[in-house]
Amino acid sequence: MSDLVKLTREGAIGIITIHNPPVNALSPGVPEGIDECIDELTADDSLKAAVMIGSGRTFVAGADIKEFGKITSGQTKRGVAFLPLLLKIEDCPKPVVMAIHGTAFGGGLELAMAGHYRVAVASAQVGQPEVKLGIIPGAAGTQRLPRLAGVAKGLEMCVDGNPVKATQAHELGIVDAIIDGDLLAGAVAFAREAIGKPAPKTRQRNAAGNESVFAAARESARKKYRNMLAPQAAIDAVEAASKLPFDQGCEVEARLFQQCLFSDQSKGMIHVFFGEREIAKVPDIGKDTPVLPVNSVAVIGAGTMGGGIAMNFANAGIPVLLKESDQAALDRGLSVIRKNYDTSAKKGRFTPEQVEQRMALIRPTLTYDGFESVDMVVEAVFEGMALKKQVFGELDKIAKPGAILASNTSTLSIDEIASATSRPESVIGTHFFSPANVMKLLEIVRGRQSGKDVIHTCMQLSKKIGKVGVLVGNCRGFVGNRMFGPYRREAQFLVEEGASVEAVDKALYDWGMAMGPLATGDLAGLDVGWRIRKEYAHLEKPGIRQPIAEDRLCEMGRYGQKTGAGWYEYDENRRAVPDPEVAAMVRQWAADAGIPQREITAEEIVERCVYALVNEGARILEEGFAMRSVDIDMVYVFGYGFPAYRGGPMFYADTVGLNEVYGRVRGLEAQHGELWEPAPLLKRLAEEGKTFRA
Ligand code: 3HC
Ligand code: NAI
Repeated sequence: MSDLVKLTREGAIGIITIHNPPVNALSPGVPEGIDECIDELTADDSLKAAVMIGSGRTFVAGADIKEFGKITSGQTKRGVAFLPLLLKIEDCPKPVVMAIHGTAFGGGLELAMAGHYRVAVASAQVGQPEVKLGIIPGAAGTQRLPRLAGVAKGLEMCVDGNPVKATQAHELGIVDAIIDGDLLAGAVAFAREAIGKPAPKTRQRNAAGNESVFAAARESARKKYRNMLAPQAAIDAVEAASKLPFDQGCEVEARLFQQCLFSDQSKGMIHVFFGEREIAKVPDIGKDTPVLPVNSVAVIGAGTMGGGIAMNFANAGIPVLLKESDQAALDRGLSVIRKNYDTSAKKGRFTPEQVEQRMALIRPTLTYDGFESVDMVVEAVFEGMALKKQVFGELDKIAKPGAILASNTSTLSIDEIASATSRPESVIGTHFFSPANVMKLLEIVRGRQSGKDVIHTCMQLSKKIGKVGVLVGNCRGFVGNRMFGPYRREAQFLVEEGASVEAVDKALYDWGMAMGPLATGDLAGLDVGWRIRKEYAHLEKPGIRQPIAEDRLCEMGRYGQKTGAGWYEYDENRRAVPDPEVAAMVRQWAADAGIPQREITAEEIVERCVYALVNEGARILEEGFAMRSVDIDMVYVFGYGFPAYRGGPMFYADTVGLNEVYGRVRGLEAQHGELWEPAPLLKRLAEEGKTFRA
């Protein structure tokens, strides 16, 4: 018998325990073990019913996601097929009670629904999150869930992939009873009651739905999950549940599951699933590295970033001192924070009491009083080395020994900032993204002397405040903005060569980016890049082509959304309207600069912008400013609206094939010059037939 699943006895009740830490995934051996236990249960006359339960922290959290890659690459050995096993459980002549704690997700919920009854502790959650991996339930989840929860709710759960709490699952009919106290004891008692009664089979229930539910779901998924295959496939599968007998519905589901599983989209999303977990692992910082306490924080600067940063800490229950240089700026900053919280409360994300609790955690100040006792300071004053050094010099005198001194700088050297202190080991970059209370990404910038405990603490803290923390090196622009430069440069070149502003944005939006690059510039403020370019102009190599248009727009005061005009014009609702004047001006500037005009396709726009990201990413990787290509991918997926179903820029390049990408980059170099010189790493990996990932 498999070590992963065991049958024990408690009187007439067989207890089937699944033990496959950490999450009892259905790895090879688990279905086989369950299969053997069901045989034994059926054969043993002394057993009248069974309870199936997970050991450790959870019931079954789903199929083993690592196995999917083996299936698509043809490396897997076929074990017990899961769908027939579920039928076998459902057809077992003795009642099987599924006892749920933790998470019954994906194949875990499918397993639970094949039992005759489900009981759960109130803290448990159940769901079909497969769409988040670019697939759909593959073991009758789309067929059984609508039969238990109703078509509308089953559809929603399979399409959005969000779990429901056990109490809601109980109301929906997915769970039969909530167990207070010991789950196993409660489940055994439940099983005793079930002995001798006809055992209900979910698949024999009806799942009728009306046509309009599906049409509306398709329309909504088209917008919400732009370009994504899995949500549409989930709708097709649930529709099959509502129209076809169970067996035929399962056949439809199986076909759609295969299509999704073998798509690049699921490969990309599975890469993101594991990537989000992999980035927490820093090779030279072990789990035993000390984590410093962060029970109180101070933020300096209550502007665009400082206010949002303070909100993150308050949301996590950490008190924040918020320092400004003058009262008017402080009042402005606090009123923006209050407005953001009120908007969230109106949307039902917080109760009014929670808003007040959070506001009460943010203590405004104009002085350094109280800074001597905080565990961490995050500086978010204007971008300028002299000011940052002044602030860190002051902090060095005031902050207690061991306090973390973090800068939110987006471009400046952490090492130079740290040099203004006598404790560079306490200094680190915490680069939040705007709006800081919303965006998931946090680049944690490792200075030359940043302490391992300081880094480890910031990585842990990122989770606590709901961010995805990626450790990056201290180069200009760090990882995200350094790559964003060439990406946006190409977008501007394309406009200067004849593409319209709207065509450039549309091509990348249609390809999957959350926003086009020019519209993104308008959102962030074109003046930010303009100021940076002026500050670093002396570092540019003479004779290299530079974009013209954005600096000219800034010289005209067109900074983007904040001034009502940039690449686009903005109405009072900040809706972008194409501006023919910009189009005419760009044509004139291009003519003055002697840039030939031509027709440009959407494919060329995507290729140039995305390969510019990839080529710069390859340099960053080779120079060691990112630890792995997956770190770069996560920066882009969580901070720059890169489509998760493409896995991130480096993973996307791997999918295309590095030989192909390298060939195109060389072609672009021949056409456009040395800005397109292939990164040495890209060249080497392409020639060796390797990938960034490997
Ligand atoms: N397969 C393989 N490994 C898994 C896994 C799974 N289904 N779920 C979690 N893991 C691994 C994680 O990669 C992580 O590994 P690591 O420690 O080496 O980094 C470890 O288990 C712990 O996971 P988390 O760090 O995520 O732990 P949390 O406690 O924060 O979260 C969880 C637990 C809520 C279960 C979360 O891991 C999760 O959402 N997992 C995925 C669940 C899922 O998507 N299930 C559906 C799978 S597809 C399927 O079932 C298809 C079916 O229809 C046939
Ligand atoms: P901002 O101009 O909106 O806010 C800066 C605030 O700092 C102002 O309110 C100013 O009064 C205050 N300030 C200046 N000197 C101070 C001092 N000595 N003590 C206390 N307060 C002081 O600037 P923003 O956009 O918030 O940027 C702050 C930092 O965050 C910069 O380093 C910037 O590069 C970085 N950043 C900005 C992003 C953005 O999208 N705006 C994104 C990521 C990082």
